[in-house]
Amino acid sequence: MTKPYRLLFVCLGNICRSPSAENIMQHLIAEAGLSDRILCDSAGTSSYHVGSSPDRRMRAAASQRGITLQGSARQFTTADFEAFDLILAMDEDNYRNILAMDRHDRYGDKVRLMCDYAEHFRDREVPDPYYGGPDGFNYVIDLLMDACQGLLTQIQQSAEFTA
Ligand code: 4NP
Repeated sequence: MTKPYRLLFVCLGNICRSPSAENIMQHLIAEAGLSDRILCDSAGTSSYHVGSSPDRRMRAAASQRGITLQGSARQFTTADFEAFDLILAMDEDNYRNILAMDRHDRYGDKVRLMCDYAEHFRDREVPDPYYGGPDGFNYVIDLLMDACQGLLTQIQQSAEFTA
């Protein structure tokens, strides 16, 4: 039995984008019958909302697509660099803030932008929906559905996973 592959999704507050990515990915992993082989978690670079449930507006958008958002916000820590195989940043600020915590430049290969895995959407970042209207939350879900599907395909094809 090989060790499960561990994914960590990271945004600023860990109440909108990264819990959505985590729960969408978990949904796709379950559909693919891989729940014992790929594990998901999420975190925020800030401590603003530590302990909070996912944002109500984000939960509403996710539930329209059949996804229930669960979890409670926590802050990213340096221990996450060792604990996870792949760390997915929602935007470039998150990406820079994660790498700034990698004091000895050891984990750069594990940190990626989530949108790099999107196959249909052309965005470079998952836009922060927090201060906008409902369209922004719906857009985040649709973009993340695409990027999570692309990510799952890439993991399934990777040498590390098939070995
Ligand atoms: P998230 O969204 O990073 O996708 O969880 C935000 C949540 C809270 C804030 C900003 C973005 N905030 O400024 O409190």
